Amino acid sequence: MKDKLKKLEATALPAIDKAKTPQQLQELSVKYLGRKGELTAILRTLKDLPADKKPEAGQLSNKTKQALEAAFSKKEQELSTAAVDQELKKDFFDTTLPGKTPPQGHIHPLSQLQEEIEQIFSKMGFAIMDGPEVEAEYYNFEGLNIPKDHPARDMQDTFFIDKEDHKKFGRLVLRTHTSPVQVRTMEKYGAPLRIIVPGRTFRYEATDASHDTTFYQVEGLLIDKDISLAHLKGVMAEMLGAVFGKPVTVRFRPGYFPFVEPGLEVDFSCLLCDGKGCKVCKGLGWVEFMGAGMVHENVLKAGGIDSKEYQGWAFGFGLTRLAMMRHKITDIRLLSNGDTRFINQF
Ligand code: PHE
Repeated sequence: MKDKLKKLEATALPAIDKAKTPQQLQELSVKYLGRKGELTAILRTLKDLPADKKPEAGQLSNKTKQALEAAFSKKEQELSTAAVDQELKKDFFDTTLPGKTPPQGHIHPLSQLQEEIEQIFSKMGFAIMDGPEVEAEYYNFEGLNIPKDHPARDMQDTFFIDKEDHKKFGRLVLRTHTSPVQVRTMEKYGAPLRIIVPGRTFRYEATDASHDTTFYQVEGLLIDKDISLAHLKGVMAEMLGAVFGKPVTVRFRPGYFPFVEPGLEVDFSCLLCDGKGCKVCKGLGWVEFMGAGMVHENVLKAGGIDSKEYQGWAFGFGLTRLAMMRHKITDIRLLSNGDTRFINQF
């Protein structure tokens, strides 16, 4: 009997230790300790032993039984903690990790600049106006002293929207500049006036690095008594200084636009070379910036303003070009092609 018990221990203990799953362990438990198990079978023979051998054999078998039971419960513990570990690993959630931030958009560089410019002009007492992008031919041209068949119309190639020719207002066009809002605002509010009009404009153009069919302008209009071009120079120097964060010099050259008289081209001192001449300003020291001039008598008339009492100036610059200069963007098409790798840089 002693030998049988030893043999049993020698095979059962390693088998229990090797069990990999609770089921295997359960099967082993049936095999050794079950009603028809091997140890149970041995224990049943106890009663057949002579009385003097019984105590020793009883003790021995108890020991074996305890050893097996201890091995079973140890293994059972091991397997169940392993199961919990695995479960934890599967659903592991580290509450100390920072959360995932959802991607956040930001304001387009053109809109950023537009907002800044609106603020700068607001401080100088200008109101911000808006006008339709699909505009009547009249406001885009005739109202601005550009009659039908005038060669000046060729300066701005236009997208026409419909063929129908309305009596006074002509056909519908995508506005080629923000200047139509000059006449619209004069008609609506009269004089005095102090407005800027930031907005989207369109031209029928072949696109390249510096031309696009869609771009942004800012129109300015100031109508009052005793207004001169000196005021325009001051206002532009103020605005450009605020946009670029350093003093900017402004100069006037004669220029032609049918809706102003005299008409001007306005340049500012090149910020890259401080006026000494570089690649950006093509060695001139000046950057061409905008058209401007004293509002033409015929335009005041179209807006219903008495040109004997009031006069003023108007200007129009490319917001898109200004943004490109500010960020040193060399291709205008990048601003609207939807490539977020580009846009995320600003
Ligand atoms: N509207 C003109 C353009 O787009 C610019 C301009 C505006 C010129 C106001 C003079 C006065 O070219």
